[in-house]
Amino acid sequence: MTGATVIDHPLVQHKLTHMRMKDTSTQGFRRLLREISVLLTYEVTRDLPIAPMEIDTPLQPMSAPVIEGKKLVFASVLRAGNGLLEGMLELVPAARVAHIGLYRDPETLQPVEYYFKAPDGLAERLVVVVDPMLATANSAIAAVQRLKDRGATRLRFLCLLAAPEGIAKFNEAHPDVPIYTAAIDERLNEKGYIVPGLGDAGDRMYGTK
Ligand code: PRP
Ligand code: URA
Repeated sequence: MTGATVIDHPLVQHKLTHMRMKDTSTQGFRRLLREISVLLTYEVTRDLPIAPMEIDTPLQPMSAPVIEGKKLVFASVLRAGNGLLEGMLELVPAARVAHIGLYRDPETLQPVEYYFKAPDGLAERLVVVVDPMLATANSAIAAVQRLKDRGATRLRFLCLLAAPEGIAKFNEAHPDVPIYTAAIDERLNEKGYIVPGLGDAGDRMYGTK
């Protein structure tokens, strides 16, 4: 029992390995992240409720399934969440988008909020919070709390890499929010980085340091 669902599809694992490699270029990293995000979205939406809709095919009327309920919300934790968002919107173009601007103070490892914007009607929508890295989980816990304060009740957290320490802390803070990840790594190092990990996701994605 890890407290998280691991999306272990071979394509996801293959792409993740290439993202981890230190010599993968910024361009390559971004491309892989966009590709992997499509596959992760497929899994995180696998059990969405469907309802029958009456339609007409060219041959006859039929009752056919469509996704039930209000449009999904993808909530991106800036900056790195935006790298996942792009591919997610390719698969679910009608989704609404929330942005939560947070950065992790390098000394305290506490999240500092600098931006928040979310669509209306969070209470009636499934909200998928996205950030490639779940390290200490301080950022994810704060982002989910911000969305709950604005009314969200049905949430999922989607990331690429998680540390066991972060999973435990997140599960304790938000036991009602399932975590989906492509891998669970060994541990956090003394600077709060996931090891073996892939480094700083935002820096690798945008070529900053
Ligand atoms: C990274 C990452 C998460 C956070 C994870 O963002 O994208 O948001 O760190 O760490 P935590 O689980 O210990 O909180 P960062 O703060 O580096 O900001 P950035 O995306 O703007 O680079
Ligand atoms: N944020 C990152 O981008 N990488 C880590 O390993 C931890 C936090």
